[in-house]
Amino acid sequence: MSISRINGFADLFDGDAAVFELMESTCRSMFTRYGFREVRVPVMEYTELFARGIGTETDVVQKEMYTFPDAHGKLQSLRPEATAGVMRAYINASLHARESVSKLFTYGPMFRCERPQKGRMRQFHQIDCEIVGTPEPTADAELILLVTDYLKALGLSGLSLHLNSLGCPECRPKFRMALIEHLQKYEADLCEDCQRRLHTNPLRVLDCKRDHDSEALQTAPVIADFMCPDCRSHYETVTALLHDSNIEYVQDNCLVRGLDYYCRTTFEVRSDAIGAQTAVAGGGRYDGLIKNLGGPNLPGIGFACGMERLALLMSKRDLPRKDFYLICLDKECIPSGFAIAADLRRNGLSGEMGYAVQGMKSSMRQAGKSGARYTIILGSDEMARQTAAVKDMDAGTQQEVAQDKLVTVLTIKD
Ligand code: HAM
Repeated sequence: MSISRINGFADLFDGDAAVFELMESTCRSMFTRYGFREVRVPVMEYTELFARGIGTETDVVQKEMYTFPDAHGKLQSLRPEATAGVMRAYINASLHARESVSKLFTYGPMFRCERPQKGRMRQFHQIDCEIVGTPEPTADAELILLVTDYLKALGLSGLSLHLNSLGCPECRPKFRMALIEHLQKYEADLCEDCQRRLHTNPLRVLDCKRDHDSEALQTAPVIADFMCPDCRSHYETVTALLHDSNIEYVQDNCLVRGLDYYCRTTFEVRSDAIGAQTAVAGGGRYDGLIKNLGGPNLPGIGFACGMERLALLMSKRDLPRKDFYLICLDKECIPSGFAIAADLRRNGLSGEMGYAVQGMKSSMRQAGKSGARYTIILGSDEMARQTAAVKDMDAGTQQEVAQDKLVTVLTIKD
């Protein structure tokens, strides 16, 4: 009996894998243009990193992590997101001692044990981007500009940018108190999850889909009325810079995000075209996170795009066409065929060779299936003349070519 794939984990072939490759290559070229450098961090970290970083009361830490004890019983978890790991790496490498601002990006698999559905996987992939070391609102605006440019470069449109400020440790507690006081009046009307959140993480009640249209949320206080002057001015600068760059956004007072490290600017990019899981990217400022993880007291801001969700909005890509498929009609031809294929590839052509000797008909069927532009046929007659038959699979024409002229002939394509 064959072994099945784990629920919520996916295999990607051909056109689907090519979409991921495109997201990665576009990210590499665009992010480096903005001055970001790649960092690669492990997929597994000590659980404490995520508990301290993301917050013990968050859904992610409470119920969505894959956690195992190591040989000494110390808990470690598959990363549910990249930010905490990148910050751990930043602290361990003392990057702050070398540069005042670090701009880092990474991409790869993340793991959350959620109920799988369209756009929600247990293993999913993020493109993640972080700016560490500056509290300036220019960084917030630049990061938002980067995510919108990136999504545009992937050919995506019809997305909406939701923006909010969560204030800071000075002004948010006042808002939190006012919110709790307000929500308590409606406690019995809230859904079960929100009744619990009211006492653990009341801000998250604001982004509950079930209670969204309820009187409790419609009449809830908004953070803007509680923001301290510094947070207000920070947010005004961010929005003014976005306005000057013609970036449209929705002011979303209910956008609070699901991870505890956020403060001030938070944002999400959403699409209505991929089902219930609408967020294709999300991020924000996390000025207390690095200190909380035992590092210096430095601010940071970042975002991550969900690659599976972006892939739902992108159509499959055609794979690049191979130049040749080489067929050997006799066993004796294999060493020469092997050497010819190697030589063609060393000269920049792409292609493959049929490993086994088969009849002409099935060999040609394989060549057709490979999608290669040319089929190179080697039989004992061609070997004797040091030539190969080359069939142009588009034109249907065939010519005999000296083996030492194959690179030239295959390189000239109309
Ligand atoms: P997040 O909002 O939890 O933020 O995730 C970012 C994106 O990852 C989401 O917008 C979504 O597209 C994708 N995503 C999340 N969970 C899943 C899932 N189960 N299946 C498929 N896609 C998913 C973060 O992770 C933060 N670390 C972002 C950040 C970076 N903030 C600051 N820096």
